[in-house]
This record gives sequence, structure tokens and C-alpha cells, in this order.
Amino acid sequence: MHKIRNPEALEETGSRARADSPEGWAVEVAKARVVTSPQGALDAAATGGVALVTGGGKRLGAALCLELARLGYAVGVVYHQDAEAARRTVDAIVRQGGMARPFRLDLKDPDGADVLLDEASAALGGVPGVLVNNAALFHPTRIDGGSWEELGALFQVNLQGPLWLALRAARRMAAQGGGQIINMGDIWGVRPLAGHAGYGASKAGMIMATQVLARDLAPAVRVNAIAPGAILPPDAASGPEADAYRRMLTRTPLADQAGPEAVTAALRYLLAASYVTGEILRVDGGRWLA
Ligand SMILES: NC(=O)c1ccc[n+]([C@@H]2O[C@H](COP(=O)([O-])OP(=O)(O)OC[C@H]3O[C@@H](n4cnc5c(N)ncnc54)[C@H](OP(=O)(O)O)[C@@H]3O)[C@@H](O)[C@H]2O)c1
Repeated sequence: MHKIRNPEALEETGSRARADSPEGWAVEVAKARVVTSPQGALDAAATGGVALVTGGGKRLGAALCLELARLGYAVGVVYHQDAEAARRTVDAIVRQGGMARPFRLDLKDPDGADVLLDEASAALGGVPGVLVNNAALFHPTRIDGGSWEELGALFQVNLQGPLWLALRAARRMAAQGGGQIINMGDIWGVRPLAGHAGYGASKAGMIMATQVLARDLAPAVRVNAIAPGAILPPDAASGPEADAYRRMLTRTPLADQAGPEAVTAALRYLLAASYVTGEILRVDGGRWLA
């Protein structure tokens, strides 16, 4: 549960700020006033808090950043290579009256996590109370080839890096009174996707890491995962991945609902669900059942 230290600074909207936590702090969904300190650091005490989203520059990550900003969070839009995309997401948030800053992180670099957390805390005006581990690599594992490095990158970016970042962030969250971590899984972490042994295993690992961390970090930090099915097609309109995405939609009972809103709705639920931890929330249009 993310806590807001300065409830008076909130302008409540339809979703009321609540003050029913044991400490009597206001929580969760509240619309914030935008406050920028003279130094240019964003004043998180006057917002819903600070949230970080890895891979936040584009696609699902961008949608998650925009949603967090709408909920009043000052958002750290974390990118790896595409600074331009991160800048576009930041600009979109600022246009809608929110607060955001871009930050670079390579999940393969173990030193990057603390640097990111230090920079984000200083620039956004507070320790992140929400971390969304969204960044990932998605590529096949060829049984007739491929390389050690390719396989290693999948595990580092999809599992080791996010787990490391979660551990580093959780210490700070616990020290400031609490927080929550939301990991992006995949239904291909619980069902086998042919040709993607590395990707599937990395996402399966993320799901187990979510459950173990939920135990280890309770009660200060809630840890949950979203396991999407077909949400967004790959960037390339044709090719094997695009064909696989179309095939998957034909087997998805609620295929017409696919889109980022399905995932942002899950994010809203998990942010507010104060008695939920270790949950793997499938957002797959019923693909799981079919
Ligand atoms: N799209 C779907 O339908 C779907 C379905 C199931 C699960 N998911 C999961 O949902 C999440 C988002 O999916 P998506 O399709 O929107 O993602 P995506 O387009 O593949 O983007 C992933 C992001 O990961 C970042 N990234 C890659 N390597 C990195 C590294 N070494 N360090 C830090 N960041 C790195 C990239 O940042 P830069 O661009 O800045 O390099 C990129 O923006 C992923 O975890 C994915 O597995 C998505």
C-alpha cells in the first residue's frame, strides 16, 4: 500500500483518498496538485507518490506510465535505448497535467538499480512507492542454434535485472513505510509457448519470484504480477511473431477487448487491493481457458 504523507495537498476526485490504514494515512487513488520545487525537483509529498515503470517509453509501459500519472503519481519513465520514446511519454504526461521524468537503466547492469533509485528519488522528490517491472525482451529460442549471450540476455533483462531492482527498491520502500511492486509476467510463463523456451522460463521465474517476494517482503511491500495474453501486436505487421499474435487472438474468447486498457485496469486494481499480495493476475481475455 503506498502512503501519502501529505493528504491535505490532495485534491480529491471521484476516487476518494481513504484514511483507513492503521497509521491513518491517505492511500492510493487521488488526483494531485502539481508542485515543482524551486530546484526543479518534483514534490512527491504533494502527489500520489513516486512510481517507476521500466520500459516506460513505449507500448504497454507508456500506457502504464500515463495511467499512474492520471492517478496522481510522479512517474519515472525508465528507458534503455530509446530516449526519444521516453521523452514522448514524459511530454504526454506533462500535457495531461501530470509529473514525469525520464531515467536510463540497463537491466543487465547490476549497479544501475541503485543509481536509478537515487536519481529518481532526488528528481521526483521522494522514494518510489510503486515499482512496475515492465521491461522485457521477447524473442525465440532456436533449438538448432542461437547463442549463449542471447539466452543470457533474456534471463538478465526479464528475470535477474527486475528481481535485483525489486530487492533494491524494496529496502527503500520498507524504510519509508511501505510500497508495492508489480511485475509483468506473461501467460507464456504458465503455459508453454513453442519455440520460446528462454522467454517462457524467464517469465515463469518472474512469477515464482513474485510469490516468494510477496512472502519475504510482507507486510511492508506488496508484490503482485500481471500475466497478459495477447494485448498489443508486435511492432512488425508481418512475420512469424505477427502471425503468432493473430493466431492467439483467434483462440481468445474476449479478443475484441485486447488493448492496453485491459492492463491499466489490472494495474488500478492491484494498486488499490490492499489485501492482495503474491497474486498472478491473468489479463488474457480468457485465452487461459480455451
Ligand atoms: N505486448 C503484449 O501483448 C504482451 C503480452 C504478454 C506479456 N507482455 C509483457 O508486458 C511487458 C511489456 O510488453 P511490450 O510488448 O509493451 O514491451 P516491448 O515493446 O517489448 O518493450 C519492452 C521495453 O523493454 C525495454 N528494455 C529492453 N531491454 C532492456 C534493458 N536491457 N534494460 C532496460 N530496459 C530494457 C525497452 O526499452 P527501450 O525501448 O528504451 O530500449 C522496451 O521499451 C513485457 O514484460 C512483456 O513481456 C506483453
